[in-house]
Amino acid sequence: MPDTRETIVLAYSGGLDTSVATKWLQEERGYEVVCLTVDLGNLPDLDAARERATAAGAKALDVVDAKDTFLQFFAFPALAANAVYEEGYPLATALGRPLIAKLLVDKAREVGATAVAHGCTGKGNDQVRLDVAIHALAPDLTIVGTTRENLMTREDAIAYASKHGIPVRATVESPYSTDENIWGRAVECGILEDPWVEPPADAFEWTRSLDETPADPDYLVISFDHGIPVALDGDTIPAVDLVNRVQELAGRHGIGRIDQIENRLVGIKSREIYEAPAAVTLLAAHRALESLTLSKQQLRFKARVAQEYADLIYNGLWFSAHHQDLASYVQSTQRHVTGDVRMKLWRGTAVAAGQRSDFSLYSHALATYGSGDQFDQSAAQGFIKLWGLPVEVQAQAQLLRDPSDPLFLARPQEQ
Ligand code: ARG
Repeated sequence: MPDTRETIVLAYSGGLDTSVATKWLQEERGYEVVCLTVDLGNLPDLDAARERATAAGAKALDVVDAKDTFLQFFAFPALAANAVYEEGYPLATALGRPLIAKLLVDKAREVGATAVAHGCTGKGNDQVRLDVAIHALAPDLTIVGTTRENLMTREDAIAYASKHGIPVRATVESPYSTDENIWGRAVECGILEDPWVEPPADAFEWTRSLDETPADPDYLVISFDHGIPVALDGDTIPAVDLVNRVQELAGRHGIGRIDQIENRLVGIKSREIYEAPAAVTLLAAHRALESLTLSKQQLRFKARVAQEYADLIYNGLWFSAHHQDLASYVQSTQRHVTGDVRMKLWRGTAVAAGQRSDFSLYSHALATYGSGDQFDQSAAQGFIKLWGLPVEVQAQAQLLRDPSDPLFLARPQEQ
């Protein structure tokens, strides 16, 4: 009998939940299931994943290596924007979702699927990001959220898996829920849900704790071309290698641990632990180079754009005209952000120890207090006269008339 079932493409991580979902989509929703694993630098044990997908009756399991695409088109543009959510989170998970959505849609088109599925919970940001992106790219596709539509406890899921012959690895269960890609790692749940509790050592995998970091610093020269990191210590290397190398080195120095109470789009405050040694180091380096190559006005306005940019990434609005507009602005600001930053990695911090650029706006001749000073100090008095003129006028006309104003307490008080 010909198979008349409709096909669904499932974003497949290889874990228990998406393996159970593979079966559930067939049993309960009548789909034929194609599994898609998107490798953003978080590739699971592929043999085990394949074994589970097959046991769960998947028609196919495709794996896409999207690490380079992720860096070039998602993480690096966010770096150029200095996009950081609520002053801490470099947005690794949030940046990955629109790319996963795009690849799901591409695969759905390729195999003639009518639907796509993901295993995001119904109370997180990730479902919003995926759903909004999928709707934007392919409004005709049905979206099934397997976890939010089929609430199972972990025990239920294990029972369902063994009933259907899906192998469940007998490894120790992580006390946390994690998400990783090459730009960073997010850790939540378990004991971390108590915001009074310090994150235990086992929450961290990519970064050393400060009592285990090397006694001596490492220096690393990071070169940028138009705001994009391209070389380490003078060697031009592919993006994926560059980020992995920075991650390794910065992680050894305990850099990139972030612990924040975060405001989710769905209205919940949550406690989030992140490890993002490469992102944190590259962001610090990029900012240092911008401090040398952008004007005061550019830096200030760009900081406001950075916040807007971070919000739109966090809030799932990647495929929007607003994003295109902000991205054009950011790209324009980066036309002289080319040069080197010497980063000092030590004791949990990544600090710029030096920066240089052919487009530097820093003029030694203007800044120096030593010989060779070209700053015309005689021009200062006239400048100050005009700069302070409105202050002087207003003080005379209004402020000095009110002796009770605390700002003017230095003035003798009348009894
Ligand atoms: N709170 C972060 C965000 O919304 C991290 C989410 C981690 N996702 C996960 N499935 N564990 O981007």
